[in-house]
This record gives sequence, structure tokens and C-alpha cells, in this order.
Amino acid sequence: MALVPLNLFVNHRGKSGRQRVTCRYKCGDACAHPAPNTSANEYFGDIVRQSVSRRAMLQATGVTVLAVGAGSTLAACGRADDTAPAGAPPAADTEPRPGMNFTAVAPNSEDAVVVPAGYRQAVVIGWGDPVLPGAPPFDVEAQTAAAQRQQFGFNNDFAGLLPIDGAPDRYLLVVSHEYTTEQFMHPGYDPEAPTREQFEIGLAAHGLSVVEVQRTPDGLKPVPGRYNRRITGDTPFTLVGPAAGSDHVKTTADPTGRNVVGTFNNCAGGLTPWGTALSAEENFHGYFGSAEGAEAATPIDADRLARYGVKLEPSERRWETFDPRFDPTKEPHEINRYGYILEINPWDPASTPVKHSALGRFKHEAATIHVTEDGTVVAYSGDDERFDYMYKFVSTKKIRPGTDPAALAHNMTILDEGTLYVAKLTSEIPAAEIDGSGALPSTGAFAGSGTWIPLLRAGAGGTAESLVPGITAEEVAVFTRFAADKAGATKMDRPEDFETNPLTGKVYLALTNNDERGLDGEPGPDAANPRVDNKNGQILELTDDHAGTAFTWELLLVCGDPAAADSYYGGFDKSQVSPISCPDNLAFDGHGNLWVSTDGNALDGNDGLFAVALEGPSRGETRQFLTVPVGAETCGPVVTDDLVLVCVQHPGESDDHSLANPLSHWPDGGDRVARPAVVAVWRDDGPIGV
Ligand code: FEO
Ligand code: CA
Ligand code: CA
Ligand code: CA
Repeated sequence: MALVPLNLFVNHRGKSGRQRVTCRYKCGDACAHPAPNTSANEYFGDIVRQSVSRRAMLQATGVTVLAVGAGSTLAACGRADDTAPAGAPPAADTEPRPGMNFTAVAPNSEDAVVVPAGYRQAVVIGWGDPVLPGAPPFDVEAQTAAAQRQQFGFNNDFAGLLPIDGAPDRYLLVVSHEYTTEQFMHPGYDPEAPTREQFEIGLAAHGLSVVEVQRTPDGLKPVPGRYNRRITGDTPFTLVGPAAGSDHVKTTADPTGRNVVGTFNNCAGGLTPWGTALSAEENFHGYFGSAEGAEAATPIDADRLARYGVKLEPSERRWETFDPRFDPTKEPHEINRYGYILEINPWDPASTPVKHSALGRFKHEAATIHVTEDGTVVAYSGDDERFDYMYKFVSTKKIRPGTDPAALAHNMTILDEGTLYVAKLTSEIPAAEIDGSGALPSTGAFAGSGTWIPLLRAGAGGTAESLVPGITAEEVAVFTRFAADKAGATKMDRPEDFETNPLTGKVYLALTNNDERGLDGEPGPDAANPRVDNKNGQILELTDDHAGTAFTWELLLVCGDPAAADSYYGGFDKSQVSPISCPDNLAFDGHGNLWVSTDGNALDGNDGLFAVALEGPSRGETRQFLTVPVGAETCGPVVTDDLVLVCVQHPGESDDHSLANPLSHWPDGGDRVARPAVVAVWRDDGPIGV
């Protein structure tokens, strides 16, 4: 496994592993601009189970392992391997946790998915593969919007598997397509002058795919299915909750403020216990722009645009030149119709998906459901921006059991009535012990307590009450960041995916990085975000009174080079862990281990998927299960008893490469173009990690 020159992994700011091109297309170049949270709310460095998701059902029942498929055996070291390659952890002294008994994959820069010895892998579906009947074969030289509307979209992020009742080996695979990177999609692409066809291909390559899949000896294979569906940038949605019908979301094309067209930048998501899928609209600001010096037709609230990172300048993709809805100087409210959690009923391809505004509008990363003993539904969601916040929604209604149409109709309104909260963290650790270096305080752990501050109480029929003085309920729903600023929420290091441990009820949050923490004029370190220039991120563990307002917290991992003084692996021996950096998406296995995918590894090597032990003497043990190809990010982990799925996003994406000069040829090899794709990993002789 030869390592390619490490300057491949030096980013445009020299601080994290992400390439400039990824920032420009994925998040509207957010990290090249000042963080948009300029609120003066204090940061606390200055002051002192029952989860019944379908995924849990799947984990409980397991997926039958049938046989063997082709796969890489580019593995690293065994737990007892004394000849481990450089960078791989030696065997741990403790007994392996159930679910984590596999050979850790060593850091590498392969153009391949690398899995542990004895494991198999196969692509499930990738960009351009057919989803709908009659979809033409993928031809990158002759791609059309008509074809793309029927094919699997670009840059898969979230993945969820829903079992199909009565068909033991069949599932619905729900996948989001976060963003497009046009110069890696279109031959001869001119970013200064995209064509209308390229614009329409871009619209069609966003959104989500629903694909029926079957477990076979070769992994998980798409089959023609009656549920198959593409949702794109043109699909009709219904906006529901307190924002619906408000002046802030009315447009020329939709004077009702309820009928929204399309969805963009669908990052992570979640499955609901009632069998639907949630998807998070994240960096929606990057799709909106205007000509230099354009005069607005009606007054524009510049502060509102700025708080969400919107710039009145030509956008990266120039979509505003094809459709005025992407130009805030022409349609000032169109942008207020994005940035929500959406819900789709994948069991009815003709259904109109909804956007739930009671969960607020921000750069949502995922929405993860936890159900309390009395059937109250709690949805956790992070706002992925430097110095932005962590939120939760607590329902008023209780979940109704069953999957009959009446139960489904009831349950699909649960996220419309309840209370939206934002988190404020505190700590008793003396400020002098939080010096920005990441050095552990004298207590031995970064820990504290916190409060969920209520922002908005939503009732039936879109009624709502603002719980923040001076801001209306409609404004809280549409301009949620302002309400959270006023409430004094804690500025975090880019909150990404939340996940609740199905065994303990503890809640975990990935904080991916924040290279502005501690810069001049920016918030300094605090006990939950303890490092300045935080390149590697951390994972927060909450013991939350789910439906209540109090919690305690502790940092499980302070990620980074295990040999460095500023990293912390839950107290586990750092000489025996896999190095992890930039945690992003989270999942649980049935054994209660946390699985973490990474985005922008700031250490040497590709991104990957890791299992982390949480309980007992193994707490903090971290083992790398796989790595993704060069230039890619690891997304959408699904971990069942005997199958792991990951979404390989943006393989080969690099500032120095393009479609004509590719860095990656994954997954098809030879001289083929790189394609984002979903990969299944399994063993032929037993369950995962046991
Ligand atoms: Fe799309 Fe926050 O990662
Ligand atoms: Ca991600
Ligand atoms: Ca990310
Ligand atoms: Ca997750």
C-alpha cells in the first residue's frame, strides 16, 4: 500500500484535509469566509431506552449472510499482529468489544475502499446507475437531464435501510445526494458559462433516491422495485409548520408560501420509527446568487442573508442565470424555503414530501429520532457551521404504534407540534485550565452540564408561540439562528450528526472541526470546544433528559494524532487506537458501539469509518474499519449485525484534477471516471466484528 505524496492532503488553508474545490461546491466556500455568527452571546469559557427505529429493528433481527462476493482484502493489522504497518495500532491489551473484533485498517491513500482481512465488499449503486424503469445506461460523454432524473444522483451522503415486511431479504435503501461538482461531471465544463442542460442535470443529480435492494451472495443489489423513486431539485414539496404561509416564504410562483419546489444540499438524515425518512437541507446558501452590482427589486434584509452566509454575487454554479428563483435580488423569499428537515414516505412514490419548519431553519446536519418511554418523539439536529448550535425538538404528540395508514398519517405530523430548543453548555472547570491547547483539566475530563433553552412552541395547524422576546414565531421558524443567538446558545465547533445509543440512551454529537476557534476576534476555547485552531474535531457525549431541559456532558474523544498531547481517546491507551480526525456521521451497532465516519481527515491519509467502544475498560478504544478512496469523504454509515454500508462521496475530488485529469478511477477502475457510490461490506463467515 504505497502512500502517495502527502501534499495531496494539504488543503487550501493548510488546516484540514478538505480540498478547496470541495468547499466551493459543497458548502458555498464557507470555510474561506468569516464565520457568519457574529452575535455577542457569551461563551462559557468566560463563565463558569427506548429507541425503536426501524434501523434498530434491523439490527435486532440481523441480515442473513448468504455467501461471498468479490472484495478487497487490503487489510492492515490484526489485533495480535506484531508486524503492523506504520500508523496502524498494535494489538490492544483488553479483550475486544463485541462488534469491534476485526483487524484495524491502517491509514493509507489508496484509490480503493480498504476493509479488514476476511471482509468482502461490493458497490451497491453509484452515480448514473438506473433507479427508475427505462433509465438509460450511464454515459458520462452524453449525459442528459432526462437520463439523470431516472438515475442515481451525485455525491451520496445519508443512507438508510428499511426492511420490507414479508420479504426477509429485501429493503428500501434511501440515499441523499448532497451536492454536485460540475467539473467532475461534465466533459469540457466551463464554470464561467455552464449550459442549460448542465444546469438541469445539476438539479436532477441532487435530492434523494429510493431504491429497492436485495441481499444476495454478492452483497446488496438493486432490483426493479415499485417503491423506486427520485426526488430532485424540481420535486414538489409541501412546507408545513409555523413558517408555512408566512410572508417570509411567499414567492411570485407560490403566493401561498406552502408549495416549495425542490431540495438541495441534502446532507445526513435519519429514519423514523414509523418507517419514513428524514433528510437535512444543509448548505443551501451556495445555490443562490446574483450578478455583480445587481439592484434588488424589493428591499432585502442583508443581515438575514449574512447570518446564513448568503452573498449577493455570482454563485459557483450560476444557476441564477437560468432561473430567477435562485437570485435573491429577483425572488428575495425563495431562499427562505430551504434549510429545513424534510420527511418522505418512501412507501408511496406518489406522495408529496414535506418540509417541517417547526424544527427550525438552519444548516441542518441530520435529524435523529429518539422515542421516550411515553412515546414522546425527540429529534436532535446540529447546525453545521463554525460557532453555530445544537438543537432538539420535543413533540407534543405521542407516537402511534403500527404502520397502518391512520397511524402513518398521525406520525407524519408529530414533527409539526412541539417545542424547539437550543443548547447552552456550562462547566465548573476553571477557565484557567482551558488554555486552548487541549490539555486535560485537573479533573481528568472535559465535562459539565447544560440546559436546553426553548425557542418556539408549535401547535396544531401551523399555530405557534415564540419563546424568545422580540421575535415572532414565524421569524423563529424561518430565521432560527437569530432566535438562538438571542437565547444565548453555546457556540460549538460545527455540530454534525447526532445519534442516541439504543442500549444506554446517551446521546452523541460529532463536532467536526473549527479552524477559527481562538482566532483574533473569534470566540476562544471553552470546556466543550477546548482547542484553538481545532483541525481534528471532537465527539460530545450527552446524558440527556430527552424530553426535559437538563443534561450533563463529557467529551468522549478529542480527535487527532494519538501521539500528540492535544488528543484524548476516552481515557483509553492512545498507543492502541486508530488515529481519527474530523468526525462527521454517526451510527450505532447492536452491541452499543459508536461508529463514526470522517470528512476531511487532517492527519495523513484517506477518510474512513471507525468503531468506538463506549463502556467499561475499552471506553475510547477506536478502531478503523475501512478507508474510502483518495479524495473521498466517508458518509452515511449503516451498521447491522452482518452488513456495513457506507456512502463514498466525492472520490478523486481535488483542486489539481478534473474529469479530464482524474485523481481517482474508483469504483470502475481502468480509465473510467470516478463515481460516488454506496458500498456494502460483509463477512462470509459470521457477523460484523464478532
Ligand atoms: Fe454535509 Fe455537515 O456535512
Ligand atoms: Ca458529511
Ligand atoms: Ca461534514
Ligand atoms: Ca447518523
